[in-house]
Amino acid sequence: MKRKLISLLTVAALMIAMLTGCSSKNEVGAEQLADKKVGVCIYQFNDNFMTLFRNELQNYLVSKGFSEENITIVDGANNQDTQTAQIQEFIDNKVDVLIVNLVNSSSAGTITDLVAGAGIPLVYINREPGPAEEQRWADKNMNVCYVGCDARQSGTYQGEIISDIGKNKVDLNKDGKVQYIMIEGDPENIDAQYRTKYSIKALQDAGINVQCLDDQIGNWDMDAAKQLVAESLAAHPQTEVVFCNNDAMALGALESIKAAGRTVGTDIYLVGCDALAEAVDDVIAGTMTGTVFNDHITQSHSAGDAAINYVAGIGNDHYIGCNYVKVTKDNAKKILDSVK
Ligand code: GAL
Repeated sequence: MKRKLISLLTVAALMIAMLTGCSSKNEVGAEQLADKKVGVCIYQFNDNFMTLFRNELQNYLVSKGFSEENITIVDGANNQDTQTAQIQEFIDNKVDVLIVNLVNSSSAGTITDLVAGAGIPLVYINREPGPAEEQRWADKNMNVCYVGCDARQSGTYQGEIISDIGKNKVDLNKDGKVQYIMIEGDPENIDAQYRTKYSIKALQDAGINVQCLDDQIGNWDMDAAKQLVAESLAAHPQTEVVFCNNDAMALGALESIKAAGRTVGTDIYLVGCDALAEAVDDVIAGTMTGTVFNDHITQSHSAGDAAINYVAGIGNDHYIGCNYVKVTKDNAKKILDSVK
């Protein structure tokens, strides 16, 4: 009797799987996705890293079975009101799932309630809403998750790239302290806050005394950083390390370092984050000390998978993480090959 019941249950499970076309996680049939609509909100198209992320995400969604015309990606133009209006429009158009790179992380609560209230599942990317908000999704059993990396790790890796060179080598003027300038991304962004903090903490944890000569906001932007570093180097010629919260700004910084007649690896050190191809080329050439790979490939695929799971009625963990990778001359070529 018991055996008969088990085999009946097995047959029933198989039939359900065949009918839904879904046998397990990540095996959602392409035919199930062809008519599903996905809305993607990017905080700003004019951002090197998020452009790589966005293109990879679009290709991945298409490769999984979404039709191109059902994927709509919009530019928040770095304005939360604009993005909130875009999200409202997606809700009115009854998209099946939303993927959102917030303009302001602090708007997460409002956006979550707006989207979840309309019964639409939501995948946040890149800008982390934070532990309290994530706990709320769990407590209320909401179809909301975040896909991204822990920026503390990227900051720590940035600091370690410098401390690994050795205190004596980095302390070029031999005054017992490492003099640095910090160029930050958007200060509201947790990635900027953590990279700023943890890069320096890693130096201190390695027993290195530090002195901050300047700390400026470059808003992730190459031209802004170029200008800031030019001014900063002129005011503080004793600078030994330039930390930039991302590679776009490090590339700008490099132009000003060269213009000031300085040579990375000889009389100054420079660290970025993201592993943009141009920056990794510089690491290989020695014109950038190192960077940290912000794995847009894994992150965009995980975001796509999370969206697919929601569309298929399968839940997701509320936090889906991804590791950063330290990039120095030793592994730069390998990283470059993997992102090209
Ligand atoms: C960071 C990235 C930056 C910028 C930012 C946008 O993770 O390192 O380059 O794209 O996200 O939020």
